[in-house]
Amino acid sequence: MLKPAVFPDHETLSRAAAGWLTVRLEARPEALLCLASGSTPTRTYELLARSPATLRRARLLKLDEWGGLDPDDPATCESYFQRLLQRPLGRRGKLLGFQSQPPDPEAECRRVRQWLARKGPVDVAVLGLGVNGHLGFNEPATALQPFAHVATLSRASLTHGMLTAARRRPTFGLTLGLADLLASREILLLVSGPHKRAAVGRLLQGDVTPRFPATFLWLHPHVTLLCDAACRGG
Ligand code: GLP
Repeated sequence: MLKPAVFPDHETLSRAAAGWLTVRLEARPEALLCLASGSTPTRTYELLARSPATLRRARLLKLDEWGGLDPDDPATCESYFQRLLQRPLGRRGKLLGFQSQPPDPEAECRRVRQWLARKGPVDVAVLGLGVNGHLGFNEPATALQPFAHVATLSRASLTHGMLTAARRRPTFGLTLGLADLLASREILLLVSGPHKRAAVGRLLQGDVTPRFPATFLWLHPHVTLLCDAACRGG
């Protein structure tokens, strides 16, 4: 049952999300976290980065990545997580998951699939909701891909705010699939802002359709949905 908990604003939503994640990490310090990038969880990650002990042993896996961008492009998900988590936490190395510019994108997806088969499942997936209902780069379609795959980017993705700083335009997406996400032990979905009002309303209708991939979250027994008032019409 997807029942939103509604917070007055993005700050209180982010504090609740950081607290929720801290409780999970205290119970399972070496948890495998699958993390979305984007504007919604930014503040949550900033708050988490204030307590380095919480994330010391956690394994951090990127949900998705912009394909075709240089690894050090400021718009990559890697740069985002280096800025918000790795550097403030004094953690070394790259996050787990897709490289942005693999020589062979299909082989890169096979690598991530094999890694997840060995080291998964994800303990907690932190997800954002695309305005078109996408999760990661699982874009609306007549059929969805279950596992890590190369994605054709939708218009909603290609106009995403993260790309404002990009040195070039991404040519594809790399993303975990819906089966990877539904295999997570728990899912935290964060939704914020008036521009998400229609999307969250659509999600809460309760049917499941590949035309709006986030509706597949209805098939998962442990989804926590945190919203701010702005996306619920407040
Ligand atoms: C992007 C990313 C997603 C992200 C979503 C929402 O395109 N591929 O992983 O969760 O869209 O982003 P935002 O939180 O900025 O609205």
